[in-house]
Formats: sequence, C-alpha cells, structure tokens
Amino acid sequence: MNFKEELKQLSAAVSGDIFMYLPEEEGFQKRIFESCNYSVVNGGKRLRPIIILSSYILCRNSGTDTLSAKEMSAVLPFMAAMEMIHSSSLVHDDLPCMDNDTLRRGVPSTWAKYGEDFGTLAGDGLMLYAFETASKSAAAPELKCRCIELLAKKSGIYGMVGGQAVDVELTGKRPEKEELKFIYKNKTGALIEGSFMIGAVLAGASDETVKKMEEAAGCIGMAFQIQDDILDVTATEEELGKPIGSDSDNGKVTWLTYYGMEQSKEDVKKYTDKALEIIRSIGHYEFLEELLLSLIDRKS
Ligand code: IPE
Ligand code: IPE
Ligand code: MG
Ligand code: MG
Ligand code: MG
Repeated sequence: MNFKEELKQLSAAVSGDIFMYLPEEEGFQKRIFESCNYSVVNGGKRLRPIIILSSYILCRNSGTDTLSAKEMSAVLPFMAAMEMIHSSSLVHDDLPCMDNDTLRRGVPSTWAKYGEDFGTLAGDGLMLYAFETASKSAAAPELKCRCIELLAKKSGIYGMVGGQAVDVELTGKRPEKEELKFIYKNKTGALIEGSFMIGAVLAGASDETVKKMEEAAGCIGMAFQIQDDILDVTATEEELGKPIGSDSDNGKVTWLTYYGMEQSKEDVKKYTDKALEIIRSIGHYEFLEELLLSLIDRKS
C-alpha cells in the first residue's frame, strides 16, 4: 500500500475509534452533546492522534507497527482526548470574538450552526470531556498521570491557550518576530508537542527521548503553522474546508508578512528537516517520516 492510501485508511480508522468515546446525544443537555459531537465528527485530518500513535510505535521500537489490545486500551483514550482538545480549540478559534469564521472542516463552524452560546459551551465541554476520556486509559498509573499533566500543560495557559491569548492580543498590531514565533510555538506547536511526548511517555521512553521528541515536535508545529498561513493565501475554500483570506480579513501579521512566500516555503522545509534529524536520532519509523514530509506540501 502506498503512503497516501495508508494515511487515508488510518485517518478513517482513527476517526471511528475517536467516535466511540463521544457522548450519547440524549437527556436534558442533548444540545451540548450534539454541538460537541458536531465539532469532532465533521472531517479533520486527525493529525495529532496519528502522531501520538506514531510516536508510540517509534519509541516502543518493537519492530512491528501493530498494537496489542492492551496497548490500544492505554493509547487510544489519549488519542481521542487530544483530538477533542484540538477540536475545542478550533471551535473557540472560530467564534465571532476570535477569528469570526463561519466555515470549518467543510461545514458551518460550530457557533454558526448552534449559536455563539453553544459555540462557547461546546468548546468548554469538549476540552473538559477530553480529560474524562484520557482518564479511561489503561496505562500504568504513573505514566497515565504524567500524560494527563502533559495534556493539561500543553493545552492550557503554558501552551495552546497561552499562544491563542498572545495571538488575540496582538491582532491588528505588529508583533515582533520573536512574539510571532512564541504565538506559533504555543497556539499550534504545543498540542503537537504534547502529542509526540504523550506517545513517547506511554511507550516508556526515557526523559532524554521525551525531551528530544518535544524539540522535534516544536519544529513540526512551526512548519505546520507557517504552512497554514501559506494555505490561507494559496488554497481554495473547497480544499481547506475553512475560509481563505481569514488572516488578512482579521488584520493578522503572519509569517508571510515578515518573510514573504518563498522564504516561508523554505522555512517549512527547514523546520521539517530539523525535526526529522532529531527523530532519526531516536529511531526509524518510515510511516512517521513520510507523514512529516507529506505535511510540507499539504493542500489542506
Ligand atoms: C488547524 O489544524 C488549526 C491549526 C493549528 C493550524 P488542522 O489543519 O490540523 O485542522 P484539522 O484537524 O485537519 O481540521
Ligand atoms: C489557530 O490558528 C490555532 C488554534 C489553536 C486553533 P489559526 O486561526 O490560523 O487556525 P485556522 O486557520 O483558523 O484553522
Ligand atoms: Mg486564530
Ligand atoms: Mg482561525
Ligand atoms: Mg490559519
């Protein structure tokens, strides 16, 4: 099977696995369940859960890429939890008080479909339900505890929320280059760092390896957000499933503002190469390497 086909199949399988953890849409609070589920089930590349799985396989280093049922019961809840947190970040990111976008993953964004009140609540709900989900992991208690801490830290004020906060504060202003880097490293990089690190911790990796994974992931996060900026200018709405030109509409300074298109494309490659160099110093897992390389010229 070629890489593209393998990724497509894995992404569909991971989606199915994640759906198993979603709440039943019933009871008095049915509408919050519906709005949470809506935000997760519609599309999405499932990159972060796939990274958790790939990082686990790389660090476990057992020569096979299949997981036993026992391993799955440890890893899968974290994969689902990470995708819930990521989805919650998108739900809030689209709100009128944030980026004010009405299209996400090819369908109306959650607030456009359910209203601003439920856009806010669905984001809150998903973010917290992620921790309830992660707690279902059958990993050894010490590893599970470390991973839940990582999930919280990389999602919160020292991670994604911290990055979004500076992003929002500096919208319409001119952030310094270092501030822009901080924003990217946190708003986008932090969940990717968390994903690489959680996979490594669950595989029983040493502290040194987990640190290396964090560093590699930081580079992937930068590359991923720079490419996201590029796509906001070069892609079509159909390809992206979200509005194009959102950054300029919101008066955002992006990587392109400072470095232009050509340098930005170079930087995506440069950060990815750096990440691959670090990852290769840990081990070899071809699928993960192909995945990271494929992100360089992703179209969505
Ligand atoms: C979009 O992330 C938001 C950013 C951090 C740039 P993705 O491009 O991974 O979005 P989905 O999950 O595939 O919709
Ligand atoms: C958002 O960056 C990163 C998040 C934490 C959601 P963007 O605002 O550029 O993401 P998109 O382009 O709306 O997906
Ligand atoms: Mg934003
Ligand atoms: Mg946005
Ligand atoms: Mg964007």
